[in-house]
Amino acid sequence: MSQLSNRREFVAGLGRSGAALAAGSWLRGIGYAQSRGPARAVLQRTRFRSEMDRRLLGAFLEHLGRAIYTGVYEPGSKLADARGFRQDVVAEVKGLGVPIMRYPGGNFVSGYNWLDGVGPKDKRPTVLERAWNSLETNQFGTNEFIEWCRLVGTEPLLGFNLGTATPEQAVAYVEYCNLDKGTRWSELRREHGYEAPHNVRYWCLGNEMDGPWQMGHMTAREYGRKARDSARQIRVVDPSTQLIACGSSNTILPTYLVWDREVLEECYDQVDGISLHNYYGNTPALTGNDSARYLAMNLDMERQIQEIAAVCDYVQGVLKSRKRLWLSFDEWNVWYRARGGRFANGQRKFAPPLLEEVYNLEDALLVGGFLNTLLRQSERVRVGCLAQIVNVIAPLVTNETSVLRQSIYYPYAWALKYAHGRVLDPLVESETYPIRAEGLRADFARDDSVPYVDLAATLDPRNGQLCLLMLNRDLQAERDLVLDCRDFTPTRMLACETLTGADLKASNTFERPTLVAPRPLEAPRPGATMTFKLPARSYSVAHIATA
Ligand code: AHR
Repeated sequence: MSQLSNRREFVAGLGRSGAALAAGSWLRGIGYAQSRGPARAVLQRTRFRSEMDRRLLGAFLEHLGRAIYTGVYEPGSKLADARGFRQDVVAEVKGLGVPIMRYPGGNFVSGYNWLDGVGPKDKRPTVLERAWNSLETNQFGTNEFIEWCRLVGTEPLLGFNLGTATPEQAVAYVEYCNLDKGTRWSELRREHGYEAPHNVRYWCLGNEMDGPWQMGHMTAREYGRKARDSARQIRVVDPSTQLIACGSSNTILPTYLVWDREVLEECYDQVDGISLHNYYGNTPALTGNDSARYLAMNLDMERQIQEIAAVCDYVQGVLKSRKRLWLSFDEWNVWYRARGGRFANGQRKFAPPLLEEVYNLEDALLVGGFLNTLLRQSERVRVGCLAQIVNVIAPLVTNETSVLRQSIYYPYAWALKYAHGRVLDPLVESETYPIRAEGLRADFARDDSVPYVDLAATLDPRNGQLCLLMLNRDLQAERDLVLDCRDFTPTRMLACETLTGADLKASNTFERPTLVAPRPLEAPRPGATMTFKLPARSYSVAHIATA
């Protein structure tokens, strides 16, 4: 794939043009160099990082707050269909084209008895849900979720309880979903009206078991053995499953990386992937409330991916295993305002409004950055889930009469719509700005140089369409990006839009739903060399036909 001679040629070219690789900076590892003047990127059809798995652009739906109830399921609403599914939300999620949806949690899953949520609805118990101190009526459960997935055209990614539940209950769940017939749990599914198996391929072995907040929290060795035991039995039930072990749930826990190593030392042979989670925010501790530092946080995500991949490779080496694990970044987003305290305590109510984060322009720009990072790292990250999809830290928010697109909806929608096929490996040079460690939380405290321009690019071999996703982190000035396409030629601009604005803190509301929304970006004439003028504080997309 990568052609060394091209890299050498490019690096030599950078030297001639006065650019310098940032010495000692890990930016070099993602193909970035420092320069003066306009940002430049060299693209080659033959230099690509991965054949992207669409699952990279998935999302997450948890039994939490108003995500399920009044988010996707609201029988009695004028907007609901006969099954109680909100049709406006179905239309939005279907329109987005989300490839995979993680369910049912999250912290919720670690206390969940899946049997409560299947069978006749009038027999299902209302229980006290202990992760979010809420009432769970179980009127929506696994089978409703599978039906909803079919309706919106997404693949289910199910998690099971490895907190309060036993491996036996977890394995029974897989049998209920995936075995054809003739056994206790497959026959129960059939009794419930689902003759054909659901054939769920991707499974999470619990959730955030390293977190002291998690029901059933345990040590890495204990979890690793429980995961191994469950996985071995699941392989008997259905060898086609892809199993994801719980990795570290953020980068600040003292067990970060050690947890992952110990878990994998126990269960490496039995699993296929390991999960990563992280949430980001513009706070005094994380960024010093500095928007320029905030917009660099996708590079922190990038570093986390590289660190966890290194642990996987270490364990692979120690075990002399032939298997290389992939990563599942199955919870990521901005989340820092509606967090903790009253935002996370349902007060024993049904469908309480929890974690209802309101997103602004700068959050959307950073979400664009996260998507660029995931694309860049797609050779290793196979699954990714924006957390979450509706009402709870979400791009979509419902009220009784409609659904609102928050600012972060747009970069996500662009990646889903336009990023297809191969993720290219561009060589980028950009001016940089410094970020400082002083005063910041240890996992985000670093002195480094951050490129103003961040680029991700895909090229679809089926139709030759090029997608460029461009973040301009410069808060003050427009920046030029000169694109040099070496072995293909852009011929026609299919779409060119930008998300920007004067006020980084502007948000959409039901009253003003399009305050933060894309607008056309002046497109350069398509050709082997093109210059995009990226507005200050912007995330832009170009979709281009090529020859
Ligand atoms: O997505 C919200 C919560 O964040 C999830 O339930 C949990 O896994 C994470 O800590």
